[in-house]
Amino acid sequence: MKAHTLFTHVPNRWVFSCLLWVLIFVFALVLHGADPSHQEIIILAGGDAQGVLEPCGCSSGQLGGISRRDTLIDALSKQNPARTLLLDKGGFIREPGLQSTIKAEFLIRAYSQIGTRILGLAPGDLFQGASRVLAMSKDQQVEILCSNIQVAGRQNNFRKFTTRTLGKEPQNLTVGLTAVIGKNAIPELGVQDSLSIEDPVLALRPVIEKLKPRVNILITLVHDGEDEARRIAREIPQIDLIFFGHDADSPTFRPIREGSTRLISSGTMGRHLAVTRIKFDANKKIEGITLDLKPLDAKLNKSTRMESLLQEYQDRLSDLQLLERRSPPPHPNGSYSGSQACQSCHQSAFSAWKKSAHSHAYQILTRENHARDPECAPCHSTGFHYAGGFLSPEKTPHLLHVGCESCHGPGQSHVDSPRLYPMKPVAERTCRTCHNSTQTPHFQFKAFFERIKH
Ligand code: HEC
Ligand code: HEC
Ligand code: HEC
Ligand code: HEC
Ligand SMILES: [Zn+2]
Repeated sequence: MKAHTLFTHVPNRWVFSCLLWVLIFVFALVLHGADPSHQEIIILAGGDAQGVLEPCGCSSGQLGGISRRDTLIDALSKQNPARTLLLDKGGFIREPGLQSTIKAEFLIRAYSQIGTRILGLAPGDLFQGASRVLAMSKDQQVEILCSNIQVAGRQNNFRKFTTRTLGKEPQNLTVGLTAVIGKNAIPELGVQDSLSIEDPVLALRPVIEKLKPRVNILITLVHDGEDEARRIAREIPQIDLIFFGHDADSPTFRPIREGSTRLISSGTMGRHLAVTRIKFDANKKIEGITLDLKPLDAKLNKSTRMESLLQEYQDRLSDLQLLERRSPPPHPNGSYSGSQACQSCHQSAFSAWKKSAHSHAYQILTRENHARDPECAPCHSTGFHYAGGFLSPEKTPHLLHVGCESCHGPGQSHVDSPRLYPMKPVAERTCRTCHNSTQTPHFQFKAFFERIKH
């Protein structure tokens, strides 16, 4: 029997009642979704950018950067803007210095534009003094939380806690937020007279006690590793959720349990975003916490506003002439002559070098808009760290790119009298000063040397 004959034999009445049941079922599903007994909030948490505004691009597959972060957060928070909360555990500064401070300023501006207005604090963020970071946060209208570090005698201080209410009454949910620098990370603060530093547990206890009755969920940002996050969870079980991490590479792929507290890390260098969904029951009690860890990869489009921020950052580096302003120490083996000076006596080595990627390594920086960036030049030029080495494209054009002397060392005296000043052999470790695990994860001396042999 053919299918259509079967169908024509079914009474209309029967088809109709089937349809009705389907409708009722769909309607029930929709109702269930709007059911006040099943509420959800979404926390988008990243952090520990360590001053990374964008991945360097030296090898493929690198994750992170404010541009992708903006694109991802924009897409995710659109789904339920009234119930999405954006957090970051802090860590804007990786090392002391003017460029780091400028990057921190741009990172905080980026977070503010993206809408992440609640930030934690890392020890390194205070390298240029706490007042500097506090001033930046005030300018950009972001709150920096830290319950256990206070700047003595300052009114505009790190906030010990904050709250946010998501959704409208009667379906509203209040989130309580605190943050600490963990016990293991505190020594990285160094001796800073103007700071009063407390043990994280001792500092948190009174704050949490005050906060707990007023909120539906308590979240603490712990700038430290898993051990310290677990200790804090054991000592203060009232905390529902901890976002932790500090210089730890690996993020958590699902929430870790410590008693009734859940622990989550988005890892380091802003490579991932932790998308945490928290379900509440009819009494607004936490029902479940799930984590979806999203990598910030090249599939995410660039964000126009972040790209213009990055442009402004490069302009600032250029205006301040950070490249030229350095005064590095002299090299014990003398000064640099540039690769051209070697050609006359080492024609075959010169030709081989000319064909290799080293001979035009600075071009990529120009193309990628990093030509005046002191963070990129060291490995894409010759003698960056020494007096008489690369200073800037204009001042030392003969030392652009990875020249002979990047590997063989400064050669001026050898050029003047080769026999009196022989060049030393090149060791594998010289390659590794530039081909390190970030820039060239798959570096292998033999195979790589084969490609530049001369
Ligand atoms: C520690 C040294 C080091 C630093 C710092 C560095 N690079 Fe590189 N870069 C390298 C090395 C080594 C390679 C070659 C990697 C390979 O091919 O295995 C490379 C390759 C690249 C490439 C790919 C080149 C190509 O032809 O595909 C780009 C783009 C790049 N770097 C950009 C940058 C930028 C931008 C910065 C600064 C933000 C930077 N680099 C900082 C060492 C460095
Ligand atoms: C005026 C000619 C001259 C110039 C210019 C010159 N070299 Fe040499 N180089 C020599 C001679 C000659 C030797 C062999 C020395 C010896 O065997 O004692 C040599 C040896 C070397 C060696 C060691 C090779 C070996 O077999 O041990 C290296 C490496 C080297 N030169 C690199 C350079 C580099 C890099 C430059 C440019 C900065 C340069 N040379 C410029 C003449 C020159
Ligand atoms: C990326 C690093 C690197 C660069 C750039 C480089 N070399 Fe070398 N060079 C080496 C290594 C490694 C060796 C082999 C080990 C050794 O003898 O030190 C070598 C060997 C040599 C030798 C000895 C060859 C032999 O037959 O023994 C000379 C001469 C030399 N290089 C000259 C140059 C000159 C001239 C340039 C620039 C035009 C240059 N190199 C650029 C790494 C480099
Ligand atoms: C001063 C930093 C520096 C040193 C030292 C250095 N390199 Fe490089 N190397 C680079 C950069 C930067 C590039 C990427 C250039 C580009 O693609 O524009 C590169 C590219 C290469 C490439 C080409 C990679 C590719 O994908 O085509 C090889 C091979 C290589 N280096 C081998 C070596 C070896 C072997 C040594 C040591 C003997 C060495 N390099 C030392 C900076 C360095
Ligand atoms: Zn950190």
